[in-house]
Amino acid sequence: MASKKRIAVVPGDGIGQEVIPQAVRVIEATGAPVELTHFDWGAERYLRDGVTVPPDAFTILARDFDAIFVGAIGDPRVPSNIHAKEILLGMRFKMDLYANVRPVRLLDASLCPLKNVEPKDVDFVVLRENTEGVYVDVGGCFKQGTPDEVAVQEDVNTRKGVERIIRYAFEYCNHHTKQDGTPRRRVLMADKSNVLTYAHGLWQRVFKEVSAEYPQIQAQHMYVDALCLQMVRDPHSLDVIVTNNMFGDIITDLAAALQGGLGMAASGNIHPGKTSMFEPVHGSAPPIAGKNIANPIGSILTAAMMLGHLGMAKEASKIEEAVLRAVQEKKTTQDVGGKLGTREAAEWIANSVGRN
Ligand code: NAD
Ligand code: IPM
Ligand code: MN
Repeated sequence: MASKKRIAVVPGDGIGQEVIPQAVRVIEATGAPVELTHFDWGAERYLRDGVTVPPDAFTILARDFDAIFVGAIGDPRVPSNIHAKEILLGMRFKMDLYANVRPVRLLDASLCPLKNVEPKDVDFVVLRENTEGVYVDVGGCFKQGTPDEVAVQEDVNTRKGVERIIRYAFEYCNHHTKQDGTPRRRVLMADKSNVLTYAHGLWQRVFKEVSAEYPQIQAQHMYVDALCLQMVRDPHSLDVIVTNNMFGDIITDLAAALQGGLGMAASGNIHPGKTSMFEPVHGSAPPIAGKNIANPIGSILTAAMMLGHLGMAKEASKIEEAVLRAVQEKKTTQDVGGKLGTREAAEWIANSVGRN
């Protein structure tokens, strides 16, 4: 038998504590050969002993694990959000997980807030640059607390960083198909180069150069504001979208709405060949935490994505098929039209996986 894949599990805060154990239960139902190690990093631990992530954590994760499975980080008791910065952005930046892959798929027409939209009409992916942009924490405040205060936050875009995510997008087309089996053949780069002429001028130049290497793939450009309109008006026209860190964050919440809400959206933070991290797109949702009402599907689909990444395609498909059945039979939480609690919805999916 193949050796077990080692997965570091970080449930984190709020609903992360509820949905991650349920997704783990679904992974276990597939019989996938995995060995799970839990870490208690999050607000509770930080408030208790001041530790966000222990020293050497990222070295250990990269050395001793095949993947990392994270819930959500964020807690109103830590208003500075310092622990999220160090845990979540720490993994993305220090482990150099440059491609944030966020698939956008509608599983059932009933979940989409748009009229007359079928699952075949919403099947695109957002590839979000994950290690640069305004997220780099370069900036500062001057004369803070006075009427003259100034705040500066820099947008850092490097040739290397921009080129590798754009290249990832074209390569993604070569290695992925849509749900119906048709090849992915279009890459759309979204920016604001009409205003951010320096930063996004770089994106424009690199996109032009890299796209020339892939003549069989159609290269398109849209300003991100126009793309938001297009996502709502004609999601069917979208295939592979590549964009910077901040725009990718924003448009993937909008994209989540097309799929039925944040409870349905999965993501992977990937560096090919390195230990990568998988997390649902949603956050810790403090108002609904601890009530057994959070939708576990985003985490369950994230688990499928992680298993697929680790070479367990059969187990990943089993999970995806069980989720589809749950959605179609409304064995889901309330946010997507069902009547079940978090645990019960995941249990239904785990049982369904176990039967197939
Ligand atoms: P959020 O994603 O937690 O919630 C936004 C909305 O979606 C809320 O109405 C919430 O109830 C709903 N929602 C989210 N997940 C859901 C689920 N699984 N089932 C049903 N409904 C769900 O975003 P927010 O409120 O802006 O942020 C809350 C905290 O989470 C903040 O501290 C934020 O920084 C953090 N956050 C963390 C991550 C992460 O760790 N990856 C991502 C986003 C936000
Ligand atoms: C996400 C989140 C994070 C981000 C926050 C929690 C730092 O919103 O993963 O989408 O902005 O990247
Ligand atoms: Mn976000």
